[in-house]
Amino acid sequence: MGGADIVRLSKQHTISEWAVQGTVDPVPVARAKGVHFWTPEGTRFIDFNSQLMSVNIGHGDPRVIAAITEQLQKVTYVTPSGMTTEVRARLGAKLAEIMPGDIDAFFFTNGGAEANENAIKIARAVTGRQKILARYRSYHGATAGAVAATGDPRGWNQPPMPGFVHVLDPYHGVARGWDDAATSLRYLEEVIQLEGPHSIADFILEPVTGTNGVLIPPDGYLQGVRALCDKYGILMIADEVMSGFGRTGAWFAVDHWGVVPDLITIAKGLTSSYIPLGAVGLRRHLADHFKDKAFPGGLTYSSHPVACAAALATLAVYEEDGLIAKAKQTGELLRSLHADLAARHPSVGATRSIGLFGVIELVRNRQTMEPIAPFNGTSPEMTALAAFFRAQGLFTFVRWNYFFTNPPLCITEAELREGIDIIDRGLELTDRAVSA
Ligand SMILES: Cc1ncc(COP(=O)(O)O)c(C=O)c1O
Repeated sequence: MGGADIVRLSKQHTISEWAVQGTVDPVPVARAKGVHFWTPEGTRFIDFNSQLMSVNIGHGDPRVIAAITEQLQKVTYVTPSGMTTEVRARLGAKLAEIMPGDIDAFFFTNGGAEANENAIKIARAVTGRQKILARYRSYHGATAGAVAATGDPRGWNQPPMPGFVHVLDPYHGVARGWDDAATSLRYLEEVIQLEGPHSIADFILEPVTGTNGVLIPPDGYLQGVRALCDKYGILMIADEVMSGFGRTGAWFAVDHWGVVPDLITIAKGLTSSYIPLGAVGLRRHLADHFKDKAFPGGLTYSSHPVACAAALATLAVYEEDGLIAKAKQTGELLRSLHADLAARHPSVGATRSIGLFGVIELVRNRQTMEPIAPFNGTSPEMTALAAFFRAQGLFTFVRWNYFFTNPPLCITEAELREGIDIIDRGLELTDRAVSA
């Protein structure tokens, strides 16, 4: 099928996520390899976002494809209750090895939202408390509980759910900037006290926030959150759906600050999206809670053998190719390329990156730091920039006044420079809007 037919039928018969359906204009993709993908007509794109910040090992790795194929030939599916498989057993044990602290038991889901749903359920079951603390600049998934925890505008028009309390982040947007850790923690503790600590089951947060702008917390913030959670008997849930599996140059973002959450949620990089799979990981004492009590969750596709095989093979690729260390190293180059763009383009208001998790925020004016597009909005300049990237064969997420630099971890220096070169030329468009 040609690209135009793929797009036409997709638009007619399938629904695109979060979008006004009349405005969607998807890129038809026929094949992908490494950090590139191609349309049916052969137009090549460089993938500067690992699709949904998830294809961490790169596209089309034959080792993962072989593991999936082999598993399909052995056993395609068993019920997750009352049956188990070698790949499920091995995956649990392998994850226990790489996880922070004593997180060593996993409930497998189909993706990130379900992982968060189950983490919330576990926290409520273990603590007997009902309230959930979450941050405004966050995304935790689109299912009922996960979207109630979500603080960004994707949660605005969802059916409200009682018990979810949102707190401010240390970051307040490009114009206002950052609070230091102590200020942010004082505010957090005040909210905990005003809500009644005995009523709060957990605080769910992305250790490095993803779609809301690669927000890297000030040093001491995550340690302080850990201490407050301990002080008030609140469970800390680290949503590492996007930040996990090498994206930040460590296995998990919390590893940068030596923090062990009570529960961790993962998906995306777990299989590099070759097959859908997520999980919630529990510290030993939380897993033990369910030794003599029923676990309050279940899914037909929990521990799906083909997904477990994909995950095991993906984890082996991270290790064989040294991708976690490589992300850290290439991340240093990314940071210097960001700094170079900021030095030469007046529309660059802020750059942030940790490993290969990066964002560039654009402004109209470097004195006022007015963003080039408003919160939850766009502008002609950002629309033009997105169109330029697409026309030049660079794929990345462009959102509000910022865009991402999140390539697969296997990217070479030359490929990184190839993408940054397109960005460099694109920023000439946004520079024209700068007034000071
Ligand atoms: C931090 C975070 N949590 C949860 C999710 C939801 O994961 P899924 O789309 O697999 O349900 C996402 C998805 O982008 C995410 O970035």
